[in-house]
Amino acid sequence: MNEKNLLRLLLHYAKEDMYPFHMPGHKRNTALLGETLPYALDITEIDGFDNLHAPQGVLQRLNEQLARLWGSEESFALVNGSTCGILAGVASCVSPGETVLVARNCHRSVYHAIELTGARPVYLVPPVDTGSGIAGSITPEQVRCALQAHPNARLVVVTSPTYDGVISDMAGIVRTAHEAGVPVLTDEAHGAHLVFTEQAERSAVRAGADIVIHSLHKTLPALTQCAAAHLCGTRVDPVRFQQALSMFETSSPSYVLLASIAQCADFLEAQGAAAFAAYRARLSDFSERCRALERLRVLGKGADKLENHPAFFAFDPGKLPVVTAHTTLDGQALLEHLREDFAIEGEMAAISYALLMTSVCDTEAGFTRLLEALFAIDREAKFCEKPPVFSMSALPERRCSPAEAAKRSGRLCPLQEAAGKMSLEYVFCYPPGSPLLVPGEIVNQDMVSHILKAQAHGLSVLSSRGALPLLRVCD
Ligand SMILES: Cc1ncc(COP(=O)(O)O)c(C=O)c1O
Repeated sequence: MNEKNLLRLLLHYAKEDMYPFHMPGHKRNTALLGETLPYALDITEIDGFDNLHAPQGVLQRLNEQLARLWGSEESFALVNGSTCGILAGVASCVSPGETVLVARNCHRSVYHAIELTGARPVYLVPPVDTGSGIAGSITPEQVRCALQAHPNARLVVVTSPTYDGVISDMAGIVRTAHEAGVPVLTDEAHGAHLVFTEQAERSAVRAGADIVIHSLHKTLPALTQCAAAHLCGTRVDPVRFQQALSMFETSSPSYVLLASIAQCADFLEAQGAAAFAAYRARLSDFSERCRALERLRVLGKGADKLENHPAFFAFDPGKLPVVTAHTTLDGQALLEHLREDFAIEGEMAAISYALLMTSVCDTEAGFTRLLEALFAIDREAKFCEKPPVFSMSALPERRCSPAEAAKRSGRLCPLQEAAGKMSLEYVFCYPPGSPLLVPGEIVNQDMVSHILKAQAHGLSVLSSRGALPLLRVCD
């Protein structure tokens, strides 16, 4: 088989009369199981299909293609989402007891990595955009001050862009960290597309971050769980990273997912420039048409200028946070209107906005439907001035690190009675999954009130065990 394209290789192989006396157990028996799921393409590491954990053939070429596309030194196709890349990235840079500077609004996978490695987190707290409650950018100045206060820090971890689309000055952050000899891991799970847009220079690989993690499935045409890790420069040992990856990534990688990563890479190479130019034009037209909205505001679009949001260094134009702060609606009510009256499913509800995600695969018709829906809701919405939303600026008091808290025994306690006790669990709104409370932190009354308020607004607030109202605490 001389075929180089992974999907065509799988299709070709599926047509051959090779009987699978190997995993997976479905044996590619589509006569028995039907053609709806891609059983025919779902193989394991058989001859000719390489090995994700020791790539030398078709998967090595895929990794090289990813490195060319994003401009890294070395890239890795991942099938366990950004999560496994983040776990491996942190584990390859820190040892137990070492300090990590970490943006407080990082995804829980970053916190899990810190807990597993036994590292000590020092938080970089983002400012909050007062109108929307959206967490803003981490600044190079914050990183500089934190590095001065913690000169023994071994790693800086920042999420850029965030789930909401907030971009930090990664070039400035990387420069600051590198001056102190510290590597930077950027969780760019939501920014794999950035390098193909007008924000390319703000992407983490271009900014020189040492480890960059992408969820290809979030903003590019790739199946769920498809992701990539990129290494740049010489501060991170690629061997240590690969060793860590082999611990956190499945030993049975799905070839369906790998083929999806390969298709995504081929799409970007062959059609990326044209597709992203068309996407940019659609977003710019959408922004123009948002000018006429009277009560709803789409952050950074129409009359809402980014200059009015000093908490943001820059913003991903593909994310559409629709702010309801000047109406009687909350984010959940807006999502319900969109779903029930206009057949539009949004991404996430927060107290004072709903987040809609776009991608290069959105259609003209999709944007038109969304505009019609937003204008109809805008006409009906009642004007109302609400107080500014909760800010994360006051962190709960910390008694011990997440790793130390993991060793404590505790008891389940109703959330309303937890104030003054030490949490042994994470508590987070999901999505987006950034913790409000981290194990080892003392629950305070403000936090309890905020969680109850978020629940009253229909947001899903979860603990590590999955469900509140009981929280695992120790006195
Ligand atoms: C900021 C951020 N980082 C990392 C992740 C984990 O990504 P994945 O679901 O691809 O493992 C998420 C998932 O929502 C996320 O929002």
